[in-house]
Amino acid sequence: MKHNINNITVIGAGAMGSQIAMVAALAGFSTTVVDIEQVSLDRAKEQLWSRVDRDVEKGRRTAEAVQQAKELLQFSTDQDAAVANTDFVIEAAVENLAIKRDIFAQLDKTAPAQAILTTNSSNIMSSQIADATNRPDKVCNMHFFNPALVMQGVEVVPHEGTSQETRDITIAVTDAFGKDVIELKQEIPGFVANRLLGALRLEALKLYDAGVADFQDIDRAAKGALRHPMGPFELMDLVGIDVAYLVRMAEYEQTGDEASKPHPVLAAKYATGDYGRKTGKGWYDYS
Ligand code: CAA
Repeated sequence: MKHNINNITVIGAGAMGSQIAMVAALAGFSTTVVDIEQVSLDRAKEQLWSRVDRDVEKGRRTAEAVQQAKELLQFSTDQDAAVANTDFVIEAAVENLAIKRDIFAQLDKTAPAQAILTTNSSNIMSSQIADATNRPDKVCNMHFFNPALVMQGVEVVPHEGTSQETRDITIAVTDAFGKDVIELKQEIPGFVANRLLGALRLEALKLYDAGVADFQDIDRAAKGALRHPMGPFELMDLVGIDVAYLVRMAEYEQTGDEASKPHPVLAAKYATGDYGRKTGKGWYDYS
C-alpha cells in the first residue's frame, strides 16, 4: 500500500482487539497483538482460529488466505519488543483514560518516531491522550464496530492537532483492511454511529419502561419493520450491557449533559451484573 505501512500492532486481545488484529492479518499486514495476560492471548488465538476456519468451511474465505493470515499474526505479552519495528498501532485496551495515557506514553518511548498511534475507543477521544506523547500530530481515533471481522464501517476521527498525513495514512490503512471509511471532520463524544445508536437505544428503553411493548417486541419492530440486523436489546447483549452503561456514563461525565446519563432501566440492568452474551445472560438468556 502507499505510505509504507507494513507492521501493525494491536494493543489488547479482548473481543475488539483480537478481531481487529485478524482483520489486519487477513489484509496481508504483518501483525502483532499484545496483551498483558497470556491467557487472554491464548483465548483470542483459539477463538480467532475457529472463526476463520469456519469461514473456510463455509466458503467465505480461501484456505490459503486464512493460512497466510495465521502466519502473519503474532501474539505477545512484550509490548516494548512488539512495537520496536511497528509502523502503525491500534490500541484496544480497557476503556480507562489513565491506563490509555500510560500505554500511549510507553508506546511513544518505544515505537519508532514515525509510527502512528491510534485508539479504537469511541468514548475516549484522542485529544485526551495525545499529550501523553511527544507526537500528538500522529495520534487519532480509529473506531471499529463489534464484531470487527464482520462490520464494514470504521470511523476515523482526528483531534485538532492530528496532521493531515496521519489522517491520510489512517484512511489508507482502513481502506487496505477492506473497510468503509467514515471520516469525521472533528471530535465529538460517541462519534457518529454510536450517537445514532444511542438515540435508538434510548427510545427503546423509554418504550419498554413505559410498558408500551415487551423488549422482545421492540426488537421485532427494529428487525421486522426497519430491517436492522438486530434489535436494540439484542445489540446491548452483543456489545455488553456494561459497555453500553459505561459509555453513557463516560459521556455524561465528560459533557455534564443530563440527557446523556444512562437511562434508569439500563442502570438497573447493569447493577444486576448480567452483562449479556459474555455472562450468559442479559436481556436474553444464552445458557
Ligand atoms: N464474530 C465474528 N463473526 C461473527 C460473529 C462474531 N461475534 N457473530 C456472527 N458472525 C458472523 C459469522 O460469520 C456468522 O456466520 P456463521 O454463524 O455461519 O459463522 C455470520 O456473521 C452470521 O451470524 P448469525 O447467523 O449468528 O447472525 P446474523 O446474521 O444476525 O449476524 C451479526 C450477526 C453480524 C452480529 C449481525 O446480527 C449484525 O450485524 N448485528 C448488528 C451488529 C452491530 O450493530 N454492531 C455495532 C455495535 S456498536 C459498536 O460496536 C460500537 C462500540 O463502540 C462498542
